[in-house]
Amino acid sequence: MKDYFGYKDKICVVTGAASGMGKATVEMLVDLGAKVYAIDMNECNVDWITKFIKCDLSKKEEIDKAFSEIPDHIDAFFGIAGLSGAKTDYRTTFDCNYTANMYITLNYLKNRMTKGGSIVYCTSTAGLEWKKFKKEQNKVVNCKTWEEVQKVTEKLANNAPSTFAYMYSKRCLSHFACMQAVELGKVGIRVNNVLPGSTNTGMKQEFQDMVGSEEGLIAEAGLAGRLANSEEMAMPMVFLNSEMATFISGLDMVVDFSDTCLKELKLKKNLEAISATNPIICMIAKKMLNKSAKNALNSGKEE
Ligand SMILES: NC(=O)c1ccc[n+]([C@@H]2O[C@H](COP(=O)([O-])OP(=O)(O)OC[C@H]3O[C@@H](n4cnc5c(N)ncnc54)[C@H](O)[C@@H]3O)[C@@H](O)[C@H]2O)c1
Repeated sequence: MKDYFGYKDKICVVTGAASGMGKATVEMLVDLGAKVYAIDMNECNVDWITKFIKCDLSKKEEIDKAFSEIPDHIDAFFGIAGLSGAKTDYRTTFDCNYTANMYITLNYLKNRMTKGGSIVYCTSTAGLEWKKFKKEQNKVVNCKTWEEVQKVTEKLANNAPSTFAYMYSKRCLSHFACMQAVELGKVGIRVNNVLPGSTNTGMKQEFQDMVGSEEGLIAEAGLAGRLANSEEMAMPMVFLNSEMATFISGLDMVVDFSDTCLKELKLKKNLEAISATNPIICMIAKKMLNKSAKNALNSGKEE
């Protein structure tokens, strides 16, 4: 039988490996014979991984330490770890979702990957509108260091709601991936994004609280009538980094069971087509979020 995916003995690095889509990706890669280096701040309980590396990706020093434990040659990278912003501050959310992926790519993938290498970032349909807001992202995606990103996002981190860090970080990541697809494409390394719609993972409750109910969340899952499961997001990521996709680079692969088509055809409102950095919008959003948090507390609901 031919091994179409070509993962046998490949060095694969997966972030977010302890739960949801990342864990499902690790399981598939192990089954396909890859050597998996699993990164997460929580334990990854998957049998037969090559190594679990505990690391808080919102801390640069921990990333440096993690990559000192990974071989000099990397075949495939899966940047899947992420935070919704519901329980973490703006800085932590943004750095985990964007800055870590930028830093890893420029410092550890660019020089450790060779022709045939491949990268997939897990962004989100929340970042779908990145092409409309390139001006907002430019100052971030052109930064080359961790510290530069901290500097250009400092004001936002102090003033915008942390859930806005989610949308902005995902837009920045999609934008950055497009730039890297061009940059790294010159040396034969492919770069793609998977943009998941609503999925039943460790993050589900946080998104559910944001939209108010499970039905609200299912309504964001296109025409499926249910949430996706973690494997349904892992499969496209495993595909994109495999030898089944050797001519695919620079793709935003939206995995949302037609949800985006509904928005595109104006059959559904697109609530994501707003600025992620405009100070007035950020202020209004912060006020609204504070008000709904107060209401929830008053009605005795746990936040
Ligand atoms: N679940 C959804 O509906 C949905 C939709 C669109 C995009 N996404 C994206 O999918 C990706 C995977 O998330 P998931 O839905 O599987 O959720 P999940 O919570 O099940 O998994 C996220 C993983 O990331 C890890 N992580 C979080 N912060 C970290 C940090 N600072 N350092 C190291 N590890 C950290 C967590 O420990 C966890 O194992 C995320 O990037 C998320 O933004 C999720």
